[in-house]
Order: sequence, then structure tokens, then C-alpha cells
Amino acid sequence: MTPQASIPKRGRHPGGPLQVLALVNQKGGCGKTTTAVNLAGALAQRGERVLLVDLDPQSHATMALGCAPLEEPTVAEVLLDEAYIEQAIQSGPLGIDLVPSRPRLVEFEETAERLLHPEQRLKVSLDAVRDRYDWVIVDCPPRAEGVLCANALFACTSAFLIVETGAFALQGALQALRVLDEMGENQGRAYEVRVVGTLFDRRMRLARELLVALHARFGAAMFDTVIRTSVRLREAPAVGLPVQALDASCRATQDFAALAGEVAGMFGPEADRASLLQAGLTPSHESPVLITSKNH
Ligand SMILES: Nc1ncnc2c1ncn2[C@@H]1O[C@H](COP(=O)(O)OP(=O)(O)OP(=O)(O)O)[C@@H](O)[C@H]1O
Ligand SMILES: [Mg+2]
Repeated sequence: MTPQASIPKRGRHPGGPLQVLALVNQKGGCGKTTTAVNLAGALAQRGERVLLVDLDPQSHATMALGCAPLEEPTVAEVLLDEAYIEQAIQSGPLGIDLVPSRPRLVEFEETAERLLHPEQRLKVSLDAVRDRYDWVIVDCPPRAEGVLCANALFACTSAFLIVETGAFALQGALQALRVLDEMGENQGRAYEVRVVGTLFDRRMRLARELLVALHARFGAAMFDTVIRTSVRLREAPAVGLPVQALDASCRATQDFAALAGEVAGMFGPEADRASLLQAGLTPSHESPVLITSKNH
């Protein structure tokens, strides 16, 4: 990946808390990486300073941003305590910064049980760069109960549960919530969980019904924006670009812009707070949404 001229960055959270979003679901192929890369793109287009951390040895987010996964150092070296996170950061398209991954990340998983508090390593590393970003988006592997996901959850300010609006979506989401509950118990905290629906095909009655059911179950924790199926979202990773850079007006670009607007409104600074209050809404970070598998 060649460093690109960054778009001007506003740094909209002077002194404000860095938001770290962990994108999770133990279900493979539900759209975690697609959401990570393109939400990062949409937030970057709003002028936000975004760091994407690829925490999956499959390196899909790394490749989706056009970065060769064999370049060093990567998140593997950071977690193995062989490199500082600053050394691993690369500049990506649209001004997104990336901590890439590579298959060697499995070494960290294999050696983790011999380490003291291995789940705290990402958070400790991020502390060194917390003033440089407004958002850190962590793309998790599907093995939700593993040490990599534990790192993402320990570091996060919110967990985003990515739910494919296909068959068994609700059961899968509730199972994912149970995993989050267990991880939370292990870490002695409850995560603020938000739910993002993906791969939505409005032509399918099942998908429409599932969406209604997800809203009924998760209420305010569920984003209004749902990511529709889009050929562009399949094409974009192949050319190493977020969808916004591939097609500025396609529906996927619109969907992620809408999602980024909701995300910024929920967790963002005063400007968004003002617009929410104007609309008669309370910024949700002032009343954290705590959902667990027990109240569903
Ligand atoms: N909204 C969408 N429209 C069309 N294709 C999509 C959409 N979202 C994801 N895909 C495609 O579905 C596949 C799986 O998506 P993705 O890699 O984002 O899932 P994942 O949850 O990260 O998978 P894994 O658990 O293996 O990491 C990819 O080929 C991706 O391009
Ligand atoms: Mg993935």
C-alpha cells in the first residue's frame, strides 16, 4: 500500500474520549470485515481520524485496504511485544490508517496462555496513539471466544455485533450476545453493545421479517441503518479500496454514510450532540445501552 495524501483531518474530539469499536460475531462471513473497512471509509470521509486494526490472521481487512499482509511489522509483532504500534501503522486509502495483520498472528494465539494478561495487550498499545485518532475500528476473527477477540473487547468502548439478516439471524445474534456476556464476566465488565444488520436483501420476505424481529429484540441498541447487499461491496476488496473510493454514489456508499452518521451522532462530539438534541433525542453515550443475553 502506498502512502496517499490524506484528506484534511478535523480532529473533532479534542481531549474527548477515543471511541474504540470492536466488530464481532462468531458467525463467519456475516460482514464484519466489510463493515470495518467501509465504516472506516465513511467516517474518514466525514473528516474523522480513523485507525483500523486488523485482528484476524486471515488479513482480509488488510488486503481490502490494498496492503500486502506480509509486510512487517504487523499487529502480530505488536501483540507479541516485538514492535511498537506506531511502527506497524500504515497509511491507507481515504486517509484511513491501518495496523495490518498477517498469518503469524496465530503465534500470539498459541503462546497467549503462557503470558500474563494477554487480553490487555491491544489496549495498552493503543494508549500510545490515543491522541492521534477519533475512532479505532477493530476487525475481529470469527473465533469470538479466543484471545484475539478478548483483546478487542478489553480495548473497546463499544462492541458492534454484526448480524447477517439471513436465516437464523436472531438465534445467531443471541448466541453471540451470550459469548459477549461470558467474555464480559471474565473481564469483569459489561460491554455497551450495538447491533448492525448486514447483507440485507429487501426482495426476501424472510430478510424483511428478520429485520423487524431484530429491531423488536434489540430496540435502541440496533442501528436504523441496515447494510444492503451490493455487488460493489464484493468488488471493492478485490481492488484494495473502501467502497467510497470505488463508487462515490452506489447504494453501499450511501448505506455506510448513513451508518457513519448514526455512529457519529451516538458517540460523537458536541456538534452531533446538538443535532440530536434538536431532533428531541438524547445522545446515547449519555445513557449507555447495555443489552445482555439475559434480558433477551
Ligand atoms: N452487504 C454485502 N453485499 C454483498 N456482499 C457482501 C456484503 N457484506 C459482505 N459481503 C461479502 O460476503 C463475504 C463475507 O463478508 P466479510 O468478509 O465481511 O465477513 P466476515 O464476517 O468478516 O467473515 P469472517 O468471519 O470470515 O471474518 C465477502 O465476500 C464479502 O464481500
Ligand atoms: Mg472478516
